[in-house]
Amino acid sequence: MSSPTSSAPASSSGRLADEAARRRTFAVISHPDAGKSTLTEALALHAKMISEAGAIHGKAGRKATVSDWMEMEKARGISVSSTALQFEYGDCVINLVDTPGHSDFSEDTYRVLTAVDAAVMLIDAAKGLEPQTLKLFQVARDRGIPVITVINKWDRPGQAPLELLDEIIERIGLTPTPLFLPVGIAGDFRGLLRRGEEGAPTEYIHFTRTAGGATIAPEEHYTPEQAAEREGDVWLNAAEESELLSAAGQDHDQELFLAGHTSPVIYASAMLNFGVRQLLDTLVELAPPPRARKDVNGNPRETTQPFSAVIFKVQAGMDTAHRDRLAFMRIVSGEFERGMVVTHAQTGRPFATKYALTVFGRERTTVDTAYPGDVVGLVNATALAPGHTLYVDKKVEFPPIPSFAPEHFAVLRAQSAGKYKQFRKAIDQLDSEGVVQVLRNDVRGDASPVLAAVGPMQFEVMTARMLGEYNVETQLDNLPYQLARKTDAASAEELHRQRGVEVFTRTDGVLLALFSDKWRLQYIAKEMPELTLELLVAGTE
Ligand code: G4P
Repeated sequence: MSSPTSSAPASSSGRLADEAARRRTFAVISHPDAGKSTLTEALALHAKMISEAGAIHGKAGRKATVSDWMEMEKARGISVSSTALQFEYGDCVINLVDTPGHSDFSEDTYRVLTAVDAAVMLIDAAKGLEPQTLKLFQVARDRGIPVITVINKWDRPGQAPLELLDEIIERIGLTPTPLFLPVGIAGDFRGLLRRGEEGAPTEYIHFTRTAGGATIAPEEHYTPEQAAEREGDVWLNAAEESELLSAAGQDHDQELFLAGHTSPVIYASAMLNFGVRQLLDTLVELAPPPRARKDVNGNPRETTQPFSAVIFKVQAGMDTAHRDRLAFMRIVSGEFERGMVVTHAQTGRPFATKYALTVFGRERTTVDTAYPGDVVGLVNATALAPGHTLYVDKKVEFPPIPSFAPEHFAVLRAQSAGKYKQFRKAIDQLDSEGVVQVLRNDVRGDASPVLAAVGPMQFEVMTARMLGEYNVETQLDNLPYQLARKTDAASAEELHRQRGVEVFTRTDGVLLALFSDKWRLQYIAKEMPELTLELLVAGTE
């Protein structure tokens, strides 16, 4: 198969390197309500994609968030689907990949984090670190993704600025290195002090509120001397805090940031659009562009090599008017041109890319060309599943995305026996999308498979979609298991004989032993140390 990039002249490879170098692909990780949707909207506002905030998000009678595509999402105010927002900012192309807002979908978030080069950890200034932030931060750390911290809602009363930073050091062991400090305590947010060498303030950025934060907040820039005159003690406090941070070694260091040891910090108010431009500038200046990715053999795939991409998300039923199935790929190397024929590494089959889109909520735009770091949705991608590879030229395959340890288990049954064919089709489809994990064993048979999930809301999505998209009414009966471990055929025989244990085969062929509780698991592991009982993804339990 020929590739448009493999035979490309040197100048084209230079252009490809330039295109890759100007990409910044990131995701926001946060606890629900920290302000992710508001921040997304504020970024879109700064990128001039929208002219007024409130156009794409707003819970108080304004238009619904564009990424709320399912009734359930709307009812619960959560976002299940992952989509990408692309915009130009200065000379850069920014790709913001959306993550689901609820911890029950942390496996989806994990998949998204395999597709980005940096993460923005968004913290509510008053609430500090919350459980979901901690969990997602752990995932970002496991994946070696550099993290930029945004302390949001500084317009509201909250903790002292340095107190929040201490919490980050103590609870997650990451050293925060503020690039900007707030001028004014939480609740009296006047602007930002820009920190320079050894914490010396280099300028004061003063913001002015606009009505409801709907438009970009005007900025005025002052020298430190002017700032001291204008703001008095409020400025001097911020300047002193900056010195204290430097004395504690909390200054930005690019290498330590890229290695995941430190995190640049920005104080902001997404709602008032304060600090949002500074975040964009930080992404451009400090966040890494797409880099080489290791393939299954550990060889790096450079961004300038022929086209290759990883699928990180599959979604069907995003639009009831289009009964299609979209697979989202993150481009790893080469140039993508719509219509090119690529190879699906898992089946070896050709895949035509006639329909390629960017999707943000209900907005769909055809993509003609894309570069490393970009996210493209492929239509009617029935064979593609999360973790799969697409490539041109010589075969390349990227490592699969590890699956999370499920903690909730239930038997799924069709209410009406007549719908069995539809029932099976729906399960196969939703299983390959990664909505839940599907487990089977000979004892239970195929008519009522067992569903396994990280969070129970995944079951709700499953049954809602079975009904909405396949017209199959189902019933779920919870099973009394709490833990799963990966095992092998030899151990499975012994485990079958144990009380409180059941062994299943997951669709990907992995043998999973389910345990009623951790004591049962501990007992068996102690009594029979020869059995194989492996954790699925470290750090999730
Ligand atoms: P999420 O996507 O992370 O779940 O959070 P979302 O943006 O929906 O924000 C959650 C709530 O926090 C919203 O209030 C939002 O307006 C508010 N918020 C976000 N950023 C800021 C900020 O910088 N300052 C202040 N003061 N509030 C902020 P809500 O009452 O749930 O909705 P709405 O009626 O305000 O839209």
